[in-house]
Amino acid sequence: MALLQVDRLSKIYQQHHAVQDISFSVEEGQCVALLGPNGAGKTTTINMLTGLIQPTSGGIHLYQQGTKVEDRRPYMGYLPQMPSFYSWMSGREFVCYAGQLHGLTRKEAEQRAAEWLQRVGLEEASRRKIGGYSGGMKQRLGFAQALIHRPKLLILDEPVSALDPVGRRDVLNLLRELQQETTILFSTHVLHDAEEICDQIIMMRDGRVAIQGQLDDIRDRYSEPVITVVAGNASNPQVKAWMTEISRKPYVLRSELQRESMTLTVSDLELAEREIWKDAMQHRIFIRRFEAGQSTLEDLFLKVVQS
Ligand SMILES: Nc1ncnc2c1ncn2[C@@H]1O[C@H](COP(=O)(O)OP(=O)(O)O)[C@@H](O)[C@H]1O
Ligand SMILES: [Mg+2]
Repeated sequence: MALLQVDRLSKIYQQHHAVQDISFSVEEGQCVALLGPNGAGKTTTINMLTGLIQPTSGGIHLYQQGTKVEDRRPYMGYLPQMPSFYSWMSGREFVCYAGQLHGLTRKEAEQRAAEWLQRVGLEEASRRKIGGYSGGMKQRLGFAQALIHRPKLLILDEPVSALDPVGRRDVLNLLRELQQETTILFSTHVLHDAEEICDQIIMMRDGRVAIQGQLDDIRDRYSEPVITVVAGNASNPQVKAWMTEISRKPYVLRSELQRESMTLTVSDLELAEREIWKDAMQHRIFIRRFEAGQSTLEDLFLKVVQS
């Protein structure tokens, strides 16, 4: 059942189309990644979903048991890209305060704040001032704040982008856990994060949706055979010339040449493999490594971003 339905949404600033005519839906229980390079329109989209900015046109509908709700905001929890906290408050005070803003009584807020602070691993630090929290701790505090009113849809804008590897791992683990109990939509420009945890991706570019769908379907549909060849030694000028020649063969769709290796997206894996070996032998090129595989989602992402 669709929880969120976005219908031909656009946002125009003066002449600039930050978001152009995007449509997608989010099913209940799914984890959706909004992907795209900087400037693609992710934050603008999220800000429209959360009601922070008004769309220029288009509709956003949230359904509760199949019925559209009038005001979607109480059903959403939101963590902005750059959350700001009152550094003089303790973590506990801040989450309680957020709960009360969402209409919980003080007692309810305190009880749930304690639960969530424990869930996000901030129980021990909960009485300390936020000013002394690390980036990862602040991000986890942001999660507690966004979840205190038990939203149906959790929306996170680049939740891991600013974190160090440890903080990043913590937040991804937390997301994986939360995925079991709530619907999540998060933006990221790091494809790997999306690939790790989400079911559905929406890839944006220049304010438009470039590719969207279930992650598995997209993998099946777009993955192409790729060959990586590491040849001879780099100081041999013949190697470079040979690689350039190979990259122009009709079975090569795209190529990337490095100093002594090349990555080729090919139309026919078997044919390419045979031809490359044959050609290398004819030219007396020594192949040190030869790998045949499939393109990754990262390759697809780069292709979309660069096209
Ligand atoms: N308030 C604004 N006024 C004018 N242009 C804006 C505003 N906010 C965003 N934009 C422009 O809209 C585009 C999309 O921005 P944004 O949604 O922040 O992208 P992302 O989050 O994917 O990096 C960018 O070109 C950005 O410069
Ligand atoms: Mg952004």
